[in-house]
Amino acid sequence: MRIAVSGKGGSGKTTIAATLARLFARRGYRVSALDDDPNPNLAVALGLPADQLRRLGPVPREEILEERVDAHGVASLHLTRPFEDVIEAYGARGPDGVAVLAMTGVLGAGKG
Ligand SMILES: Nc1ncnc2c1ncn2[C@@H]1O[C@H](COP(=O)(O)OP(=O)(O)OP(=O)(O)O)[C@@H](O)[C@H]1O
Ligand SMILES: [Mg+2]
Repeated sequence: MRIAVSGKGGSGKTTIAATLARLFARRGYRVSALDDDPNPNLAVALGLPADQLRRLGPVPREEILEERVDAHGVASLHLTRPFEDVIEAYGARGPDGVAVLAMTGVLGAGKG
């Protein structure tokens, strides 16, 4: 199951996402939490210790994703390696065993 949390700024998305992730993990589900906020703080909300937080950086999308175009010209993105490998290489594991990836971050002034 995939759950996406989006909405108005400051409405509690990160708090809800982190809480859901930990509750599902405590119930025995294998949970991966992906933060795509340009100012990522999901890992903090999940309660990762400082040494684990330092491991997280923007995931180099060009290294883990490839675009494929089907016979009808429809493009789609695919992982170039198993998701577990991506978590091991670029992610961290927090309380209750939740795996977390920060997809992006502050790239610099005026860089989107
Ligand atoms: N149910 C709640 N009751 C009271 N305060 C809350 C609740 N949920 C979140 N907050 C507080 O509201 C603030 C914003 O929450 P949060 O960071 O989760 O929102 P967000 O939607 O992720 O924000 P952003 O758009 O900046 O990413 C935080 O200080 C958080 O502690
Ligand atoms: Mg947020």
